[in-house]
Amino acid sequence: MSTASIVTRSLTKSYSSLTALDSFNLEVDRGSIFGMLGPNGAGKTTLIRILTTLMRQSSGEASIEGFDTLLSGREIRRVIGVVSQENSLDRYLTARENLELHARLHGMERRFYKTRIDELLELMGLTGRQQDFPDTFSGGMQRRLVIARALVHKPQVLFLDEPTTGLDPQSRRTVWEYVRSLAGSMTIFLTTHYLEEAEHLCDRIAIMDHGRLITVGSIQELKDRLSGATIYEIEFSGDGATHYAALLGSMSCVMNISRMENKVTVTLECWECLSEIVTALNGAPVRRILLKERTLEDVFISLTGKKVRE
Ligand SMILES: Nc1ncnc2c1ncn2[C@@H]1O[C@H](COP(=O)(O)OP(=O)(O)OP(=O)(O)O)[C@@H](O)[C@H]1O
Ligand SMILES: [Mg+2]
Repeated sequence: MSTASIVTRSLTKSYSSLTALDSFNLEVDRGSIFGMLGPNGAGKTTLIRILTTLMRQSSGEASIEGFDTLLSGREIRRVIGVVSQENSLDRYLTARENLELHARLHGMERRFYKTRIDELLELMGLTGRQQDFPDTFSGGMQRRLVIARALVHKPQVLFLDEPTTGLDPQSRRTVWEYVRSLAGSMTIFLTTHYLEEAEHLCDRIAIMDHGRLITVGSIQELKDRLSGATIYEIEFSGDGATHYAALLGSMSCVMNISRMENKVTVTLECWECLSEIVTALNGAPVRRILLKERTLEDVFISLTGKKVRE
C-alpha cells in the first residue's frame, strides 16, 4: 500500500461562478500531522468537506486510505474522525450520551465503547462533567468533547478544522498536548490560522489561498525557501547608531537597512557578508548583534501577500 493516507489530484470545486478549490494536488503521509494554513475564504473547509464526503467535488479525484471519495463514501466514513469548524454537539444529550450516540452510530458494541469512552473523558479532563449538558460547558470544554467524540471509534485519519479557534491560551495548550500525544497513531489533517499552532504541531504544512496550493513542505523547508538573505539587528550603546547606519548603508553587501533609535537592522545578501560588517564595525560601541530568525509568518506574508487573519 502507498505511504500516502490522503491524496488529491486536480481536485476542483466551484460554487456557481466561484472556484473555491482550483486543481488541488496534495499528498499527506500516513501517520503524519499535516497543517493547512490559509486566510479566510482560502478553501480549507471546502477541502475538508470533500475529503470527509460531506460534499462532492466538481472535478478531479480525492482518496482517503485508498478509498475514492465519490465511490467509497461508506468505507471512508468508517475510517475517519471529524472535528468540524463549528461545535456540532447534541445539546439535549449529556456529554457522555453524545459520545455513546456516536459509538452506536459507528456500530460499536457497548462492552467496547464503555471503556473507550471512560478513557477519552479522562484524557480530555471531562470525567467529572460527563453527566452535564454541553450548553453548560465553556468553549474549551466543548471543543475537547468534540475531539473526544471524533476519536471514539478509533479513526485512522483525523480531520480537525480549526481545532483551537476561540480558545484561551490554556485550553489551546491542552488541545495541542492531546493532538501531539496522538502523533504516529493516526494521520492528522488540521487547518489553522495560527502559525504558532502549525509550528508546534505539524510535521509538514501547506499554505493555500484562493483555492490554490501555494507551497508545501516541512516548516524548515518553507523558511529556507525564503530568499537566502539574513537579517541582523545591531544594537549600539551611546549614539553610534546614526554614524554607523550611514556607513553600513553605503556597503554593497547590505541590501536593506533601517534604524530605530540605537538599533540598526541590516539585511545581508548572505551570511558570509557578516564578516565584512564586523570589520566595518571595528571600534564601534556595539552592545549586541542579533540574528533575526525568520518566522513562519514571514513565509506566509511573502507568499500570500497577507497577514494571517483569524
Ligand atoms: N456553500 C457555499 N456556497 C457558496 N460559496 C461557498 C460555500 N461554502 C464556501 N463558499 C465560498 O468558498 C470559498 C472558500 O470557503 P471555505 O469555507 O472553504 O474557506 P476557509 O478557508 O475554510 O475559510 P475560513 O478560514 O474563514 O474558515 C469562500 O469564498 C466562500 O465564500
Ligand atoms: Mg473554514
